[in-house]
Amino acid sequence: MSKDNITLPAPFDAHVHFRQENYGLQTAVVYHEQVFEYALAMPNTNPPILNCTDVSQYNQAILKYCKRLRPLLTIKLTPETTPQTIHDISIHSSFQCVAAKLYPEGVTTNSEGGFTRPMLMPLCKALCDVLDTMQEMKWVLCIHGEMPGEFCLDREKEFLYVLRDIAKLFPRLQIVLEHITTREAVEFVQLFKNVNATITLHHLMTTLDDVVGDKLNIHAFCKPIPKKPRDREYLIRAATSGDPKYFLGSDSAPHPLSFKQCGCAGCFTAPGLIQKLTELFVEWRAVNRLADFVSDFGRRCYSLPPASYRIELCKDEWTVPGNIGAFVPFLANQKMKWGIVQPPIRV
Ligand code: NCD
Ligand code: ZN
Repeated sequence: MSKDNITLPAPFDAHVHFRQENYGLQTAVVYHEQVFEYALAMPNTNPPILNCTDVSQYNQAILKYCKRLRPLLTIKLTPETTPQTIHDISIHSSFQCVAAKLYPEGVTTNSEGGFTRPMLMPLCKALCDVLDTMQEMKWVLCIHGEMPGEFCLDREKEFLYVLRDIAKLFPRLQIVLEHITTREAVEFVQLFKNVNATITLHHLMTTLDDVVGDKLNIHAFCKPIPKKPRDREYLIRAATSGDPKYFLGSDSAPHPLSFKQCGCAGCFTAPGLIQKLTELFVEWRAVNRLADFVSDFGRRCYSLPPASYRIELCKDEWTVPGNIGAFVPFLANQKMKWGIVQPPIRV
């Protein structure tokens, strides 16, 4: 192994969209397979993952394309989800469903049927009953933290009032605020022992200018929308801080080009993800914190075992493809400085 190479404990992606069979499932899984030991699959498929049967079928669908990747599953919470749903899923050992995702109604892709503003302020009884059960059963609550009805740049900030209520009412519930984009969210995470946050590659790289500042860049368009340079600085500081509350959730979210052209939010960041993160952490003189961010801290939050193998990155120039089938990656046609040495190193 060259002395310049970097080895990392097998990464864990705490937020990925693997989609469904007719919407890029194989492509999405195969790209993750090359890097991640574990990945938490989001439930906003079409149709969504709502109950035990859905989870079981989705697990099978993902496993079809996995060699060593271990999918972790989630369900989408709706006003119809009951404590029994959580119990039913928990007794199964044929898959690992470890979290439920709260989507406010209409704030992102396939979030229809989520929680409306009156259901969140104040928290409705149906949701509280489910959160109480999740707390007892040691599930993680993942949250898309944007308040419906607010101006788009203020949605995350305004949602923090709801998050405060949940964190206070359920102090033993492990909460992950997903894909944070603002200084306010970075700071909020510090206030509660049970609140953590995922950070994406694209929010570490972009601001609103990269989406609409020049020509409209549909491939950088995602929810929550990237914010100001100052917010991005806070995200970089959080990701490189060595604080276990902040860890990687890629939010890699492929949409076929024709759907992107129709305005679908989501960036397909998986191709080049770990390579670009390595480059950025080197540039920020924080490469000693990369393993924590991409593997150890997320595993700690989700009570996962330590990595069973390591991956190795080497200096190797290559270019991210301009398209992968119908999908255009976030880093399309960009030169990467780092490559992955295959196969992984066993530990
Ligand atoms: C995601 C998707 O496409 O499923 N889109 C996005 O812009 N991030 C959903 C989500 O995580 O918000
Ligand atoms: Zn997402």
